[in-house]
Amino acid sequence: MLESIAMINGDFVDVNDPVVTMEDRGYQFGDGVYEVTHVYNGRCFALQWHIDRLFRSLRELAIPGIYTPEEIVEFHQALLDKSGFKEGGIYLQITRGTAPRTHHFPEQVVPCLTMTMRPGDRTQGELMRDKGAKIITVPDIRWLRCDIKSLNLLGNVLGKQKAKEAGAYEAVQVRDNGTVTEGTSSNFYLVKDDVLWTHPTNNLILNGVTRRILMEKIAPSLGLHVVEKTFTMDFVKKTDEAFLTSTSMEIMPVVSIDREAVGDGTPGQVTRKIQAAYQALIQEECYR
Ligand code: PDD
Repeated sequence: MLESIAMINGDFVDVNDPVVTMEDRGYQFGDGVYEVTHVYNGRCFALQWHIDRLFRSLRELAIPGIYTPEEIVEFHQALLDKSGFKEGGIYLQITRGTAPRTHHFPEQVVPCLTMTMRPGDRTQGELMRDKGAKIITVPDIRWLRCDIKSLNLLGNVLGKQKAKEAGAYEAVQVRDNGTVTEGTSSNFYLVKDDVLWTHPTNNLILNGVTRRILMEKIAPSLGLHVVEKTFTMDFVKKTDEAFLTSTSMEIMPVVSIDREAVGDGTPGQVTRKIQAAYQALIQEECYR
């Protein structure tokens, strides 16, 4: 079976081919943006939301969008068609392009689009979503434009490594002023007295596609009251439920934080309802 399948600027390549040059600004500066889309039943879930965010990230970094949203959709479809993979993820990145190394934007530079599709199996995720995840907290050492899905992920990488070393699934990040922002690759939520709490969408978090689906579709359909306000760990310690969301994690219950149980130490009832609603949306979009 193929391990993964790759494309550069719309052309298929072997994923191990050395197609990117040394002076690509993504390689030297992390000067680029990315998206990750989940594939269910051979179809991309929420692709349009990812493409909208991709173009926003490009605009924020003044990287010219040299492909149309329609072409980006076609490239995703081409990867699905050629690979035949039914489950997995598509990774897409666009860098500013290749030029002799200078910090400022080069005058003549053409953005470079690379995409890979990897097959994936949901069994591990399903087990985890059923029993819930143990997480830790780490200082949020990232820059002040976390709203851009940029390739610069060192703060996130270091945080996730700390989680791994602690035997935890994820690390939730806390700013110097005590504000709890988000996971290293996920958004973070609390449920207290049947109210859903999460960090507001500003420069300190990524506005996750899964978060948007939760806020704009699931919460209204469940009649859930949502509060988008900052909170500290003192508040988190009193919560009834907690969970994370991302394209790959979906809706992940959190059962302990820094080794202290959340609620009764099992996934909460509201979290379970949100999980079911999310699965229903996947069914509707990818299995019908
Ligand atoms: N991560 N916050 C951060 C810092 C993230 O990296 C991600 C996604 C999210 C959730 O976004 P979404 O719901 O659109 O997946 C929030 C992706 C999956 C990754 O880096 O692999």
